[in-house]
Amino acid sequence: MSHAPHMTADEFRRVGHELVEWTAAYMERVHELPVQPSVAPGDIRALLPAAAPEQGERWEAIIADLDRVVIPGTTHWQHPGWFGYFPANASGPSVLGEMVAAGIGMQGMLWSTGPVCTELETHVMDWLVDLLALPAAWRSDRTGGGVIQHSASDAALSAIVAARYRLPDPAAELVAYASTETHSSIAKDLRVAGIPHLRLIEIDDERAMRPDRLREAIAADRAAGRVPFFCCATLGTTSSLAFDPLRPIGEACREAGLWLHVDAAMAGVAAICPEFRSMHDGLELASSYATNAHKWLFTNFDCDLFWVADRAALTSALSILPEYLRNAASASGAVIDYRDWHVPLGRRFRALKLWWVIRHYGAEGLRAALREDVALAAEFAERVRTHPSLELAAPQRLSLVCLCHRDGDDATRALLTAVNADGSVFVTHTVLDGRYILRVSIGALPTERVHVDRLWDLIDRAAGR
Ligand SMILES: Cc1ncc(COP(=O)(O)O)c(C=O)c1O
Repeated sequence: MSHAPHMTADEFRRVGHELVEWTAAYMERVHELPVQPSVAPGDIRALLPAAAPEQGERWEAIIADLDRVVIPGTTHWQHPGWFGYFPANASGPSVLGEMVAAGIGMQGMLWSTGPVCTELETHVMDWLVDLLALPAAWRSDRTGGGVIQHSASDAALSAIVAARYRLPDPAAELVAYASTETHSSIAKDLRVAGIPHLRLIEIDDERAMRPDRLREAIAADRAAGRVPFFCCATLGTTSSLAFDPLRPIGEACREAGLWLHVDAAMAGVAAICPEFRSMHDGLELASSYATNAHKWLFTNFDCDLFWVADRAALTSALSILPEYLRNAASASGAVIDYRDWHVPLGRRFRALKLWWVIRHYGAEGLRAALREDVALAAEFAERVRTHPSLELAAPQRLSLVCLCHRDGDDATRALLTAVNADGSVFVTHTVLDGRYILRVSIGALPTERVHVDRLWDLIDRAAGR
């Protein structure tokens, strides 16, 4: 053979059409499959040959393995009975955007290596400042700016590194603060960054961080010669979607000179609806903010939306310029080079799928979809409230309902097992105040009232009256 056996455009067209058809058929039939696969560890690997093929295979065989290998080992996050964790929505427009972005295959580390990758991202992130009513100073034409990151965990790590870099003595004994309900990614990020101390601040009855306790902790660390430098407030905690009070936390951080990062991974996108924006009161006091379009804004993983109030603080911390990346556009100072806004150098063209999601649904379409989920959650919570054997374990917030059995943890555990055993739905758990709790997270793309009713019937039957 005189050249590598690459796929021709015609072959790509033929196989591609077949795979688009396969994916569309999957979307149509996913509701018939059990949400969780029934496989034991190692079952999937046992279906695979021990060694990689020496010769290229026929596409008929490769496609056949979707049904033989992939589907049997798939947990169906796009199932209408998905009520576990938080949603990870993969809408049609975003999947198509992902496909085309992969086909174009642009690596947009610098403006010059992908002008549209950069400018479309900047533009859509500016749109979202307006759509989510974020502080105007976070727009790219002001002091701030937005960037798409891989995940909320990566976004917080970038914030931590920027917060440390601006300190006069980064070798000082640094302390970070978050509440006891903060997502584990913050502790992990701090570990990665080598920050020695994380103080988990007490929460109130609403499971929100207590600003008075934050102030006390900052003062105690100062008095002991340590350097408080970073605080993470959460809007929508993972266990119960509790909201930390931004304004008093922000005031405490500003007075003490701390970088305030806001982790709104799940709940932040809800601010596209004006009635859900009260959580943002005090947001102008934050230094950075992250929310995940890849959870509840119909954009398939990965697509974390990250803004900073002062982009210079971020880019000065993360910019290292080797000779081989020098170019005229960067030197002109007239462009954004997103490689300076996060840890990785290379970056995918993720803005395309986000752009298409926003254009396909329109802001009104997105609002309507989120409102529908919240309304279904409110009805579900009401059913729990009036059930003789169940109780709400936390107030219903947005699309999340936390409940437990009145007979205690063992009964709640048995309830979860019975409900998931049916296969048509999937629910996960958490622990709140030491109690085992069942979380019903509504928001998978195809979930409708009929699926929530099905979940309720299963819970009602398993709970007993
Ligand atoms: C509040 C909160 N922060 C952070 C994360 C982590 O998100 P990611 O997977 O984007 O890192 C989650 C995930 O559910 C979350 O609920």
